[in-house]
Amino acid sequence: MAFLEIEGINTFYGVFQALFDVSLRLEEGEAVCLLGRNGAGKTTTLSSIVGLNSPRSGSITFKGTNVTGKRPYEIARLGVGFAPENRLIFQDLTVRDNLELGCRKKQRSELVGALDKVYHLFPRLKNLEDRQGGTLSGGEQQMLTIARALMGNPDLLLLDELTTGLAPIVIQLLKTQITQLKQEKLTILLTEQNALFALDISDRVYVIDKGTIVYDGSVEGLRQDLDLMRQYLGV
Ligand SMILES: Nc1ncnc2c1ncn2[C@@H]1O[C@H](COP(=O)(O)OP(=O)(O)OP(=O)(O)O)[C@@H](O)[C@H]1O
Ligand SMILES: [Mg+2]
Repeated sequence: MAFLEIEGINTFYGVFQALFDVSLRLEEGEAVCLLGRNGAGKTTTLSSIVGLNSPRSGSITFKGTNVTGKRPYEIARLGVGFAPENRLIFQDLTVRDNLELGCRKKQRSELVGALDKVYHLFPRLKNLEDRQGGTLSGGEQQMLTIARALMGNPDLLLLDELTTGLAPIVIQLLKTQITQLKQEKLTILLTEQNALFALDISDRVYVIDKGTIVYDGSVEGLRQDLDLMRQYLGV
């Protein structure tokens, strides 16, 4: 059994079916990306995993536990951290308060330890500690979103569209930070429209189109398949 095993899920919004028989697996310590155009089903796949939009059929197993249909807080408690596409930062709260909300353990010593860890990864957030979330730049908000997900000390980190709207220099910085997380053996599933960024930091890749997985394989394999890159990714 893989670390995360998704088997044949079908996920809907009302009567609209967004995912068709999607299967995907991650081994512990892998970084895997899910690529696809706008509306392909990337966010829906992640919201299926975290329980925000549970699949109508199929199953999701995380560390041997069947999590299909469980509530988002239960899935988070099992060790799944999620950095959503729309970031969902509390605009009126300070950076530090936003981070503390991401911490599952409320004991003071554990909180300080978790904060130290994310400030080590994102030193910039330490300097912004007392700023209101809403006053941060796009790149800073993205760092805060990742840092908040890490505050729960997850075993699996889901990153939705990390690079949207960010300057190349900020993307470069995020690449360094994600690489550092990989070295710490965190398991990562990321979605991207920016295929070139994602392929650089991933061990394996899936491509989704119209709710169906159309490629499952190596990064090199996809790079060499220019037709597929063009057809499904527009690169
Ligand atoms: N809340 C919703 N209600 C109805 N349909 C939705 C909803 N959210 C997404 N969809 C539809 O589900 C399909 C998959 O959307 P999804 O958000 O998963 O795509 P995506 O690959 O994340 O796209 P993007 O790159 O634009 O973020 C699309 O057809 C979209 O219109
Ligand atoms: Mg999306």
